[in-house]
Amino acid sequence: MNPELSPASGSDDYLSRLNDAQRQAVTHGTGVSPGGADSSPLLVIAGAGSGKTNTLAHRVAHLIASGADPCRILLLTFSRRASVEMTRRVERICKTVLGGKAGPLADALAWAGTFHSIGARLLREYAPLIGMDPAFSIHDREDSADLMNLIRHDLGLSKTEKRFPGKGTCLAIYSRVVNSGAPLSNVLMKHYPWCAGWEAQLKQLFAGYVTAKQEQGVLDYDDLLLCWAQMVSDPVLAADIGGKWDHVLVDEYQDKGADRCAISIP
Ligand SMILES: Nc1ncnc2c1ncn2[C@@H]1O[C@H](COP(=O)(O)OP(=O)(O)OP(=O)(O)O)[C@@H](O)[C@H]1O
Ligand SMILES: [Mg+2]
Repeated sequence: MNPELSPASGSDDYLSRLNDAQRQAVTHGTGVSPGGADSSPLLVIAGAGSGKTNTLAHRVAHLIASGADPCRILLLTFSRRASVEMTRRVERICKTVLGGKAGPLADALAWAGTFHSIGARLLREYAPLIGMDPAFSIHDREDSADLMNLIRHDLGLSKTEKRFPGKGTCLAIYSRVVNSGAPLSNVLMKHYPWCAGWEAQLKQLFAGYVTAKQEQGVLDYDDLLLCWAQMVSDPVLAADIGGKWDHVLVDEYQDKGADRCAISIP
């Protein structure tokens, strides 16, 4: 352990504030858990408000206090607000655990962010290796819906006799298709049956949307995750990217399910 980072004496009190299951998750694989070190991934499934984020924040602090390099910890959250909140919590716990040495540590959590921000950062870094221009711009949901609307107008779909789906619905359908990899017809039948009559036009619209993105050097939020996933399907790139971190921690990888999860891969 780096002696500079050793916990202040008596400061492992922070573990006593957790319940048994939370403490087990916090110390998993660090040699403090019963049964000694276990470097296997840990998936925590727990309900809303049960302390998942709190547990993960304690785990980050515990890893740092146990000698982990904060620059080599990847900490992923779903929303920007959750990311800020997580970093704030880690900072607070680190202050308790490490006393005065904690300040620069929190700054060193260089890889804490949302799935989308970390994806964008990795894609910019690796763009030259995957044939992408690193100067791509990013469209948020609103920009994406506006671009979709523009193509919708250009194709004359906004003036149909029977009302064509609105830009938000079109984007939601497109997003579901690219994320699920399912055929458009299946997505329409299952999730948007009232739009099923527009399948051919939607296909045309989505093709136009993809072309416009390519011409403008734009990635939308789905692209950030999909291109990242595609990038790590290459074993060489995956090994290189994976080599950046010793610990991967994810808060709420599934935002909309009944069960919500925190996952930690030592
Ligand atoms: N062991 C504990 N003892 C006392 N309070 C706790 C404990 N664990 C969590 N809490 C408190 O419960 C509240 C919810 O915790 P937290 O935000 O970590 O839960 P969560 O599961 O991430 O919630 P959400 O589902 O909203 O993301 C916080 O106020 C936290 O301080
Ligand atoms: Mg939470």
